[in-house]
Amino acid sequence: DVSEFYNRQQELETLETWISGNSTRLIGIFGLGGIGKTSLSVKLAQQIQSQFEFVIWRSLQQAPRLDVILSNILPILTNSEHTNNHSIDALMEQLRQKRCLLIFDNLESILQGGNRSGQYQQGYEDYRQLLARIADEPHRSCLILTGREQPGGFAVRSGENLPVRSLKLFGVSPPVCQQILAAKGLKATLLQCQDIVNYFGGNPLALKLAATTIKTLFGGDIQAFLVQGNTVFSDLWDLLDRQFDRLSPLQQKIMYWIAINQEGATPAKLKTEILPKVSGRHLMEALEALAERSLIEDRRSLNDTASTSLMLQPAIVEYVRECLLQTAEQ
Ligand SMILES: Nc1ncnc2c1ncn2[C@@H]1O[C@H](COP(=O)(O)OP(=O)(O)O)[C@@H](O)[C@H]1O
Ligand SMILES: [Mg+2]
Repeated sequence: DVSEFYNRQQELETLETWISGNSTRLIGIFGLGGIGKTSLSVKLAQQIQSQFEFVIWRSLQQAPRLDVILSNILPILTNSEHTNNHSIDALMEQLRQKRCLLIFDNLESILQGGNRSGQYQQGYEDYRQLLARIADEPHRSCLILTGREQPGGFAVRSGENLPVRSLKLFGVSPPVCQQILAAKGLKATLLQCQDIVNYFGGNPLALKLAATTIKTLFGGDIQAFLVQGNTVFSDLWDLLDRQFDRLSPLQQKIMYWIAINQEGATPAKLKTEILPKVSGRHLMEALEALAERSLIEDRRSLNDTASTSLMLQPAIVEYVRECLLQTAEQ
């Protein structure tokens, strides 16, 4: 249900341009949990469905094997119950014959947690092959993926004027925050929304959860909520819990370190002062994995080792600090 979906006009236009050009075969929409990937993909599918003979949206949340997905999709595309060839070849044939839009949501469900981001879980490597073929072979269709991080082999294929495109989704603006709160019956000023957006990185799920908290715990008083900015928001934290659980011990250590060394937390300092025993390559891998999962800022800043600071979103800093306290108490 995307009846309460606001803005994202620019993202929708970008995606539509890529798809309408007919030359884009694979698109990835990436970003933190709750940032709006699923909603955006549904909204997009609604807007452009008339350009396609088939639109098929599947969630990978329950980590279905590829053969399950194929044996589910192929009968639809071939309009026959009796197709028993459920191979990638058979799908490619359909994607050549017909113009189909496939959307695979929650790709992270079939990727490994841990240090190296983007690796497939055991038993799911054939998805990699599927993606490679959809990206590299000529056909008339398009596959859209959503997930927290780019899968292996995606980044090297994607780029301007290439058939593979990547859209990184960021938080919503204060006016959209205002609309989300209004839909929950809360009247917030733009200034208040600016604060709330800063605190939650504009994450719409967090904004919705915050709205609930404001209503139930603060009697709808947004100002009181803002004054107690470091209150525990259990639901948002559940969300972060899930993200944090997937991290390797090294990644968690790095998150802790950045959270308590907010000022001047550069990759170089992290290396020399805190983790001298970890090889530079491992450290870089861990930082890139964290950036991929949107837990630290854009990976571009990682290359500029000397000057740029590693940043966490404010809500994530609070969360990580609380985790630290809990660990210390145990
Ligand atoms: N542009 C938007 N306007 C209003 N609500 C949004 C918007 N984008 C996302 N949401 C809401 O935020 C929540 C998280 O969005 P979702 O698409 O599920 O995120 P993701 O798939 O990235 O985890 C959902 O409840 C969704 O309805
Ligand atoms: Mg989703």
